[in-house]
Amino acid sequence: MLVARKLPQAVEARLARDYDARFNSQDKVYSSDELIALAEGADAIIPCHTEKLTASVIARLPASVRAICSFSVGYDHIDLEAAKARGITVTNTPDVLSDATAEIAMLLMLGAARRAHEGALQIRTDSWAEWSAAHQLGIQVTGKRLGILGMGRVGQIMARRARGFDMQIHYYNRSRLASDLEFGAVYHDSVEALLPHCDFLSIHCPATPETHHLLNAERIALLPDGAVVINTARGAVVDDDALINALGSGKLFAAGLDVFNNEPNIDPRYKQLDNTFLLPHIGSATRETRDAMGFRALDNLDAIFSGGEPRDRLV
Ligand code: 8YV
Repeated sequence: MLVARKLPQAVEARLARDYDARFNSQDKVYSSDELIALAEGADAIIPCHTEKLTASVIARLPASVRAICSFSVGYDHIDLEAAKARGITVTNTPDVLSDATAEIAMLLMLGAARRAHEGALQIRTDSWAEWSAAHQLGIQVTGKRLGILGMGRVGQIMARRARGFDMQIHYYNRSRLASDLEFGAVYHDSVEALLPHCDFLSIHCPATPETHHLLNAERIALLPDGAVVINTARGAVVDDDALINALGSGKLFAAGLDVFNNEPNIDPRYKQLDNTFLLPHIGSATRETRDAMGFRALDNLDAIFSGGEPRDRLV
């Protein structure tokens, strides 16, 4: 097994117990050429979203590779068609990171609305001059409308958490949820229909060719003035130029972002804006969740190599 990145200790211990595993103790991000070379003789690869398994990389993988068990729910880094064409089984790790990711979405929503970045910076730079009634006014979350773009596993948990803040939930999803799963959330049958109802917009859809730059200038214009955008899904869903312009012009009050185009070399303009609350792709970064992701990936691996059916087969 080629383990492309350093994984939690308990996960690596199980791998070492059950397989002949090649670990990455330095946690280096391999180039495609390195990954292909290291995969020589391996039956499977356990990548993270940092390993870009494009069609050309998959075409060059050694013939020994029969499975790719990703340590991630997202699979935009893997060309499923190319894997299928080579008869490589691909799996992901859904469910186990939904709570952790929804927690980060809540943190981003609250942090962006209450200008947490600016406040924390004042403390750390000793620039908190004096309390005043007008000091650093944010906008209230309680009772506002939350639009959820992509009402899958994470979106539904985000909705549940937001109801604790008396938020009214609106959503768009490719298919409407069964009524017993909506809990009063208002369904809109297009992204364009959803956007005018969003004081807060939280993105929870996967990155696909259809969602690439979905949040562009035309769609941002449909949001109410002063809306807040939250993204814990993938940077590719957002057109950075459009979002940055809207944050700079005051069209949007703020954005809370955990994911970006071109991570970790994100568009530097995000860092120059005061009204951005930015985190380094840590949606699933809790001890419990990272262990659970690893065990889920290994459950899939075990199923494949014991001749069974992996629970999370993508192809
Ligand atoms: C991970 C994620 O941090 O699972 C995903 O799709 O974006 C994050 O939870 C990362 O992808 C791990 O490979």
